[in-house]
Amino acid sequence: MLKTPRKLIIAIDGFSSSGKSTIAKDVAKNLHYKYLDTGAMYRAITFKIINHNIDLQDIQSIQNLLNSTSIDFKIVEGENHIFLDGVDIEDKIRGLAVANNVSEVSTIQVVREFLVKLQQEIGKNGNIVMDGRDIGTVVFPNADVKFFVSASLKTRAKRRFEELQAKDYDKNLNLEEVEANLAKRDKIDSERKHSPLKVAKDAILIDTECMTKQEQLNFVLEKIKEKTK
Ligand code: DC
Repeated sequence: MLKTPRKLIIAIDGFSSSGKSTIAKDVAKNLHYKYLDTGAMYRAITFKIINHNIDLQDIQSIQNLLNSTSIDFKIVEGENHIFLDGVDIEDKIRGLAVANNVSEVSTIQVVREFLVKLQQEIGKNGNIVMDGRDIGTVVFPNADVKFFVSASLKTRAKRRFEELQAKDYDKNLNLEEVEANLAKRDKIDSERKHSPLKVAKDAILIDTECMTKQEQLNFVLEKIKEKTK
């Protein structure tokens, strides 16, 4: 276990299924820090919007929905689960229905404002590893250490496909559909007007294409050590 000199904020941004959440969870575990999956928060709002049948152009209804929304995280059987309005929805947000709409929902400014504020509140005391798209650029531009994770589209699609198969979500999906969904999300995430996915100028790049999980963890811990000594 690495002992950090103070309560750090560690930002891990990157493309969908680049491996950032695996790295973030491993790092948090190693440092005994909290882990915050900000993608799950965008997925939770998307899930609620779909369930309420709200048109994505209807910003007033989305704002009303946000005004009566609570999001929490709790550990369930050793895993971090997201709770929406008090209900555990961890296994409801990873399937294609949410995946197909989440990038679109993430472009809506009132949604971003709502979630960024919540993320800043959760992270403000440090001792936290956060993964997402805009942690190092918008949520915590002064984060102590920032990483940006990438891998090729083919590799990411394969990983996501295997994850879906293993977890029993959307088992009938084929690899091409998963790849198409990722490519579409990459495009929307990178080109959106508000807080697009981009590399923070002081982020450390990690290409997970040819690295094992252990190599990724060692690399990140080493960089944290270097940056904070
Ligand atoms: O990390 P993920 O694939 O679970 O994220 C789902 C979507 O949420 C992703 O397509 C973009 C959006 N997102 C975002 O806009 N900002 C974040 N900090 C995290 C996720």
